[in-house]
Amino acid sequence: MVDGKFLTLGIESSCDETAAAVVADGREVLSNPIASQIDVHEVFGGVVPEIASRHHLVQVNGIVDAALSDAGVRFSDIDLIGVTEGPGLIGAVLIGLSTAKALSFSLGIPFVGVHHIKGHIHAAFLEHKNLKPPFLSLIVSGGHTDFIDVQSYSTYHLLGQTRDDAVGEAYDKVARVLGLGYPGGPKVEKAAKDGDPDKIFFKRALLEDGSLDFSFSGIKTGVLNYANTEKQAGRPINIADVAAGFQASVLDVLVQKTELALEKTGYDKMTLGGGVASNAALRERLKRLCEQKNVHLYIPSPVYCTDNAAMIACAGYYTYQTEGASPFALDAKASLSL
Ligand code: KG4
Ligand code: ZN
Repeated sequence: MVDGKFLTLGIESSCDETAAAVVADGREVLSNPIASQIDVHEVFGGVVPEIASRHHLVQVNGIVDAALSDAGVRFSDIDLIGVTEGPGLIGAVLIGLSTAKALSFSLGIPFVGVHHIKGHIHAAFLEHKNLKPPFLSLIVSGGHTDFIDVQSYSTYHLLGQTRDDAVGEAYDKVARVLGLGYPGGPKVEKAAKDGDPDKIFFKRALLEDGSLDFSFSGIKTGVLNYANTEKQAGRPINIADVAAGFQASVLDVLVQKTELALEKTGYDKMTLGGGVASNAALRERLKRLCEQKNVHLYIPSPVYCTDNAAMIACAGYYTYQTEGASPFALDAKASLSL
């Protein structure tokens, strides 16, 4: 406790970001340092799981120290640790979880395991102090594309999800096809800014009428086939136009499905989260849709959309209120349902 405020230390290590944060009373971010591994994985064109684990191990203690010193607090001020328990790269998750357990044991304070996607949902609470469930949440990340009915801080109902690739995964794969490298999402977004979205048409995969599920594997194949056809014909590829055409297809699907999800749930509030939520074109398109439909849209700042530990601390705080502490026997999980 500091000034009567309950302090949660968040720890996140599910993929390629080692992050820690100190959050007061669940929503006030006191610090949020993030050590990215982009440079390490860039040469491989994607995240190499074993290398990610080793880097988490090297970074994790330093990043926890940075979270405390940036917040101006000490270990003895921390009341609770919230840590990602999955889903994610198993070796990577294990580093953060083991760190949390060791700190919990040595400091004599509780820790609570947090579902990574629950963290992405909770990111919207950090900057929007009046936001309360229930609401609709769309989570778009490298591993997930989910519509979630957030009924309370701890009750969720999955309304739809991707049947194959997640939207961030599609961005990353298309970036590789276009030779843009890793991380793909921001590079495709940047390339798309200079392109014409109507020049090359890629199919919109809307699935059956009324479905809130997604499918993004077809568009990735569509881009690959287009690139191969052009190459075989000896025609140069306009990377900006391909990126813009791809992004237009993906955003059309996300926006149309969101309209349907709002109609089905009747909610007048929704949140967006996950790494792809930092995409400016998506933010703008959803903003326009929600204005037309008189829906309040809450989008976290980009730093709270991509992986971070403040969102894990926030979700840990609320999980602790309803479920209490996790046992030391808690395992890291590569896959975990919400
Ligand atoms: O949530 P996140 O940081 O990690 C996961 O939980 O997966 O999301 C990472 C994903 C990656 O696929 C990345 O390419 C994508 O989010 N991403 C973006 C943008 N920034 C990150 N996709 C599109 N546009 C962006 N600006
Ligand atoms: Zn994530």
